Amino acid sequence: MNDGISSTHVRRAEWRDTGLPTLEITNRYGSGVISLYGAHLLSWIPAGGREVLMLSEKSEWQLGEPIRGGVPICWPWFGGSAKPSHGIARRHLWELLSVTTGDDDSDTVTMAFETTEPHPLRATFAVNFGASLKMTLTSLNRGEKPWVVATALHTYFDIADIAGTTLTGLENQGYLNTVGGFNECPGSPDPIVCNSETDRVYHSAGDVILTDRTGNRSFRIAKTGSDETVVWNPWVEKSSRMPDFGDDEYRRMICVEAANIPGIRLDPGQAHTLSQIITPL
Ligand code: BG6
Repeated sequence: MNDGISSTHVRRAEWRDTGLPTLEITNRYGSGVISLYGAHLLSWIPAGGREVLMLSEKSEWQLGEPIRGGVPICWPWFGGSAKPSHGIARRHLWELLSVTTGDDDSDTVTMAFETTEPHPLRATFAVNFGASLKMTLTSLNRGEKPWVVATALHTYFDIADIAGTTLTGLENQGYLNTVGGFNECPGSPDPIVCNSETDRVYHSAGDVILTDRTGNRSFRIAKTGSDETVVWNPWVEKSSRMPDFGDDEYRRMICVEAANIPGIRLDPGQAHTLSQIITPL
């Protein structure tokens, strides 16, 4: 069952009888689960703590359908301008490249996905399970002409109550508001609080602090190689329209996504790396 994996911290498994192949990681920093389908993070529980990633109870668990929650990888496009929504990477099985244990006893799982449509591209995703959860997504243009690659690490945070949740770090940053159209808006001096549908692409390369007051915890969401941060909560009506999302689940999630939208222009042979590092505070 554990073919090709030498680390004693990592074992092959299956997600809750769904048939989807996963790797389960357990080390002194906590535990995590990543699915080979979509290279999709499903769980991260820091030692002594609680689940950080929100997964919908209504998620589909079928090849060809995206998983709702965790960390979907949006690649090589973002949103619904092309089909399927958020690109193809989250709807394919990825190849497991390696599992390594570092000198600090943390573990890194690395996977890859290649496509020729709409252009020859390769994605490599490495996740380091340590005191922080570090995700590194590298995009490579394998084609013979330049190509624009959009990326997002669409992280669903599990929060106790959206009413007591704030984001700081995006104050005074302009954003594209995609609720009810596409409108560029000036930033606000206040921390972000969601009290209606929120779907914004912030033009920001900085860190965000997520504070879940009801759940009594907070996280630093740091990133590199990312010029945008997406903040999303579907609120009441959109939740009821989404077949793979519970009507009330918007209360216990918020997405904060390190992203590049509309994307990074890569010359032939050129690569770009985006990383997102989540640290409990
Ligand atoms: C967010 C987008 O990142 O993802 C939203 O900003 C979108 O517009 C959401 O609704 C979920 O997308 P999907 O394709 O997983 O339903």
